[in-house]
Amino acid sequence: MTPSKNKAKTLWVCQECGTSHPKWAGSCSACAKWNTLVEESVAPLTRFQPAAVIAASPMTLSEVSFKEKPRYSTRFPQWDRLLGGGCVVGCLGLIAGDPGIGKSTLMLQLSAHLALEELKVLYVCGEESVEQTAIRAKRLGIVSSQIYFLSETNFELIQAHIEKLSPQIVIIDSIQILYKPDIPSAPGSVTQVRELALSLMHLAKKMHITTFVVGHVTKSGEVAGPRVLEHIVDVVLEFEGDYKHGYRILRAVKNRFGPTDDIVLFQMRQEGLSEVENPSQLFLEERIQESTGSVIVPTMEGSRPFLIEVQALVASSAFATSSRKSTGLDPNRLSLLLAVLEKRMGYMLHRSDVFVSVTGGIKIIEPGIDLAVLMAISSSFCNRAVDPDTVVIGEVGLGGEVRSVSRIETRLKEAAQMGFKRCIIPQRNLKGIQVPGIEILGVDKVEQAIEYLKL
Ligand SMILES: Nc1ncnc2c1ncn2[C@@H]1O[C@H](COP(=O)(O)OP(=O)(O)OP(=O)(O)O)[C@@H](O)[C@H]1O
Ligand SMILES: [Mg+2]
Repeated sequence: MTPSKNKAKTLWVCQECGTSHPKWAGSCSACAKWNTLVEESVAPLTRFQPAAVIAASPMTLSEVSFKEKPRYSTRFPQWDRLLGGGCVVGCLGLIAGDPGIGKSTLMLQLSAHLALEELKVLYVCGEESVEQTAIRAKRLGIVSSQIYFLSETNFELIQAHIEKLSPQIVIIDSIQILYKPDIPSAPGSVTQVRELALSLMHLAKKMHITTFVVGHVTKSGEVAGPRVLEHIVDVVLEFEGDYKHGYRILRAVKNRFGPTDDIVLFQMRQEGLSEVENPSQLFLEERIQESTGSVIVPTMEGSRPFLIEVQALVASSAFATSSRKSTGLDPNRLSLLLAVLEKRMGYMLHRSDVFVSVTGGIKIIEPGIDLAVLMAISSSFCNRAVDPDTVVIGEVGLGGEVRSVSRIETRLKEAAQMGFKRCIIPQRNLKGIQVPGIEILGVDKVEQAIEYLKL
């Protein structure tokens, strides 16, 4: 009788946490998320691991000897800073982003920069042919004999090439297109992606290869494949932005060798991506002065301050249910701020449509822009423009109180440097602050800010 263990089994794997289930269920029993189970055929285990040999013994911190890991420069100064001083030798990084955002462009430019550092680069362009990549390289002005291109999707062959060529840098574009022939599931499936990531990790550590893996983002904005992919890799960089505007943001969301929540702002041009050195200037370039519903706010992204314009438009609603829309701002935060305006300030907004937008196509998640959003809405509602030389900073609580924000001095310096004359800040931040060239006004409540701005 043929034992059934030789047949591939069908399992339902959770896309969120990677847990396998013997049959379909509406929600995952491990992470309780709904509609995350996908069907996958899993090959039975044919080999058994020998019992682990106890090679390592427990030791105290003082017994551990280590050397600081060497790093390669990306030749993008801000990107180096984002990584904590360049990319660490033997680290595995993930670049995740929406389709067409410019991941391949970024990776190709990175390859060119690393090649200039006399490093041998293997670029695995599984999604595109070598010719397509060559056309892009030509557009970007890249000529290098240190970059090797390989259009292959079978991981076993790729591994053989890596072992033969022994490059210092490997770029995989993208992990969702690669497959391991011994795993029966389709490329991009949870099992494939997880196994590939583990193999790449072993290869990176064993051969000291700095590896960058491109990963797609699903419609809901998560990295496709299991969440475990993000756990396996050393660094997770999210590449986001707006297609209409040429700006792209590279955000570190996980970094085992450096800080997180820092960003690099890039601009996409025909000749490729270039780092933006002065984001404030860029974001304020198209601003129309003295227009209603426009407020400037000095915001922080990681350790970087920059000025952005928040725009609001309050218009009477044509329907029974009014609409609230936001671009670059969390819609839940907008609803909360509107409720504060209605309840604390008595604004009758329930019959008005409210639209709020952060210009430049960037997303702001820090609460320090709350007060600016409220002032922009008030300005549009009252049809009075905010003084163009004034900037507004502050988090707003449910009681209409203005709460303190972090790094106030850095924000104020940036505003002063860009020529602004006045700044409304939370009263609690006022203590001992002195920034030359800018008048500072402290407020406790939203109504005080409205009064100062004469709205
Ligand atoms: N000639 C050009 N001039 C300016 N920008 C261009 C030009 N060609 C491409 N781009 C930009 O590059 C982007 C595509 O870049 P790229 O192929 O690197 O993206 P990707 O994230 O790798 O896409 P995919 O998800 O398909 O792999 C386009 O959306 C566009 O913004
Ligand atoms: Mg691509």
